[in-house]
Amino acid sequence: MAIKMIHHVNVQISDRERTRAWYEKVLGAEFLDRGPALNRRQLQLRLGSSEIHFTVTPRPTIVQSSHFAIEVDDWESTLAHLDDLRIPHVRTSAASTGSDIGGTDPQQGRREDSSEHYTYIKDPDGNLIELVNHPLGLQDSQGRKVEVAHDPRGLRWVQIAGFVEAEKARGL
Ligand SMILES: [Fe+2]
Repeated sequence: MAIKMIHHVNVQISDRERTRAWYEKVLGAEFLDRGPALNRRQLQLRLGSSEIHFTVTPRPTIVQSSHFAIEVDDWESTLAHLDDLRIPHVRTSAASTGSDIGGTDPQQGRREDSSEHYTYIKDPDGNLIELVNHPLGLQDSQGRKVEVAHDPRGLRWVQIAGFVEAEKARGL
């Protein structure tokens, strides 16, 4: 067995529409239409080449240091985007292992080993999300540069042909 990728993470939320709007606006997430019945069960969005699935619960359990991280393609435009939307972003969070790590900028940090950029934001329920960018790139065991999957619009795991249409026709 070999793992190919992280397919999805699951995050607890309290309000489906608020969450969908926030992830679409802030992170460019894309709604994945699973058909009426599955859509009711869960909200599922695409983030880059992975997915994020949301379980709605009245009072989500937020673990302060628990988070997932997203690799973005351009750091400066990411920070400008967060500023435009007035999304607070910080270098030190509950997930940080020390307050003096990653430089002195309160809004972003650099990791000493890879010069990775990073910052932390929170979604409307308080779920912690780390945004990262690795300017030195990704390499394999032979030191060859590897490109991660790009973010083509509409990237998705294939559904059974006609599934959504059939469900809609059945009024589910
Ligand atoms: Fe992290």
